[in-house]
Amino acid sequence: MDAPWDKAIPFAWPIKLDAASIAMTRTLASDETGINQAAALLEAGQLVAFPTETVYGLGGDARSDLAVARIFEAKGRPSFNPLIVHLPDLAAVQSIAEMGPNALALAKAFWPGPLTLVLPQREGTGLSPLVSAGLPTVAVRVPAHPLAQRLLRRFGGPIAAPSANPSGRVSPTRAEHVLDGLSGRIAAVLDGGSCDVGLESTIVQADPVPVLLRPGGVPVEAIEKTLGQPLHMVGDVERPTSPGQLASHYAPEARLRLGATSAMAGEVLVGFGPVPGDLTLSAEGDLVEAAANLFHTLRLADRMAGSGGMIAVAPVPDHGLGRAINDRLRRAAAPR
Ligand code: TXA
Ligand code: MG
Repeated sequence: MDAPWDKAIPFAWPIKLDAASIAMTRTLASDETGINQAAALLEAGQLVAFPTETVYGLGGDARSDLAVARIFEAKGRPSFNPLIVHLPDLAAVQSIAEMGPNALALAKAFWPGPLTLVLPQREGTGLSPLVSAGLPTVAVRVPAHPLAQRLLRRFGGPIAAPSANPSGRVSPTRAEHVLDGLSGRIAAVLDGGSCDVGLESTIVQADPVPVLLRPGGVPVEAIEKTLGQPLHMVGDVERPTSPGQLASHYAPEARLRLGATSAMAGEVLVGFGPVPGDLTLSAEGDLVEAAANLFHTLRLADRMAGSGGMIAVAPVPDHGLGRAINDRLRRAAAPR
């Protein structure tokens, strides 16, 4: 889907690409050849960004210390912040991690899909210890995107993948977003168009007590219904249990003002529902559409705001996917 504003600023986007660095990061097509090339690069310990239904992941062989170290380096990510391991199915997950009753119930309900479970790691899995940053747990996810599934099966091993953006910045939902942030720093990006969900996975530590570590693509309400009990919350961003949940994250260049019903002088207004904007997350007030548009719209608003500019964002209801949208917006607006 190309929004009208894509055409309104033809040369401003994406501005950070330069010919020399694009030449170093290859764009692979979403066909057999592309999948084979991506798998071969992973086998060689190189980094390949690939689409998932949530956001693009920055993939490396989760068994290779070198590949995992390269992921941290390419993103500029603090090494205390562990990575999610992607696997093709439940059986593969059970070979590296222990699953209690809540974990199994959630896996059966939501995999493949936008849910990550934090589980006790088994002994002798062959995973690089860098993946889990020294924690006894491991975060695992079975993605639903057909290209992610094909790549996992072709590669035949666990793929460690954070979101494919420089640490702290806006997550990528299109191949060109990946190139905008990481061109010249990774071997290739597998181009699968735009991501359907548009928000990262929901992260849950399931057993013995279910705890929400990050709201995301599976609404909290759906998880609580499956478990038949409320989730405990990790609310204290000063002492995160999920080390990646830092106060400032997902940040565009421009400053953000939230809960805006109109623009102040010099602001680019991102609308939602009844609040029209220069751009909108969803004119119909549809939270699923808003989630899918969120990161791309923030990038466009950033370009339009220019250096030293401001972005104002309309209120988004705090239920369903709105909860994860508001989580990302709050972190994007947090003091840096
Ligand atoms: O949708 C997604 O989850 C995307 C796609 C690519 O799968 N990935 C993603 O990864 O969002 P990343 O690295 O941006 O976020 C992973 C989060 C971080 O907040 C990290 O701290 C947390 O998962 N995490 C990873 N391992 C953990 C563990 N063992 N215990 C607690 N939190 C963990
Ligand atoms: Mg991320």
